[in-house]
Amino acid sequence: MKIIAVADYQEMSEKAAQYVIERVKNNPSIHLGLATGGTPKGLYQQLINDHQTNFTSYIKVTTFNLDEYVGLAPINPASYHYYMEEQLFQHVDINRRNTFIPNGVAENLKQECQRYDEKVLLEGGIDLQILGIGENGHIGFNEPGTPFGSTTHVVSLTESTLRANAKYFSSEKDIPTHAITMGIATIMKSKEILLLASGLSKRPAMKRLLECAIEESFPASILRQHPQVTIIADRDALPKSFQSSVTEHSRV
Ligand code: GLP
Repeated sequence: MKIIAVADYQEMSEKAAQYVIERVKNNPSIHLGLATGGTPKGLYQQLINDHQTNFTSYIKVTTFNLDEYVGLAPINPASYHYYMEEQLFQHVDINRRNTFIPNGVAENLKQECQRYDEKVLLEGGIDLQILGIGENGHIGFNEPGTPFGSTTHVVSLTESTLRANAKYFSSEKDIPTHAITMGIATIMKSKEILLLASGLSKRPAMKRLLECAIEESFPASILRQHPQVTIIADRDALPKSFQSSVTEHSRV
C-alpha cells in the first residue's frame, strides 16, 4: 500500500484529482469505480474544474458506482443516482449510457444484484476503484461481518452507518435501512484502488486498517491484500506513524 499524507481535505481532493486525471488521460476508455458520501465531493469538484479549464474528456469513460439505497428512486435527492448527477455527471461530457449504478427500486433486488455483477464482468471489470471508508471500516456498504468472498448484495445497514448518514435526510423515518452494495470480492477484483480519508472521525478506522489484523469484522482490512492500493489521507485521518509525506506499507 502506498500512503500519501496531505495537510487537509482540500489537498486530499487536489491530489486525488491529479491521480484520476492522469489515469483518464493515459486510458480515455478507463472503467472507473465511483464512491459517494462526503469524502469524494472535493475530488469530483476538482475533476469538474479541470474538465472546464483543461478539457479532460470523459466521453469514453465507463463508471460503476459502489452502492445505492434500497427504496430510493433516482429522482430522490438523497439517492446516489441523484448525488452522481449533481456532483459530477451533469458537469462533464460523460455518456450516461456508460454510467452504471445499482437500481435501488428494482422489483427483484436479488436479480438486480446479479445483473449488476454481470454488467461489471461483461464490461471488462474496473480499472480504478475510488473508495471512502466508514467509521466502522465499511467499504461501499459492506458492513462488518460481510464475507470477503461476497459479490453484489443487499445489506441491512448498521446503527453506526445510519447515524453517520442521518445528516443527509430531513427526518429519521426517511433514512433507508437497506442498500445494494458491490461486494468485497467485486471491489477486490479492481485493478487499482484509491482510498480517500479525511478528518479525525476517520482516524480510528484508518489506524485499524493500517495496523490490525485482516478480518471480516473490519471489511476495509482486506485492502491490505490488494496489490495496488493508494491511500490519500489528511493528517487528521492518519495515525501518527503514517503522517510523514509518503509511506510504503507492506501488504500483509
Ligand atoms: C457511505 C457510503 C460509502 C462511503 C462511506 C463514508 O455510507 N456508502 O461508499 O465511502 O459511507 O462516507 P463519508 O465519505 O461521507 O464519510
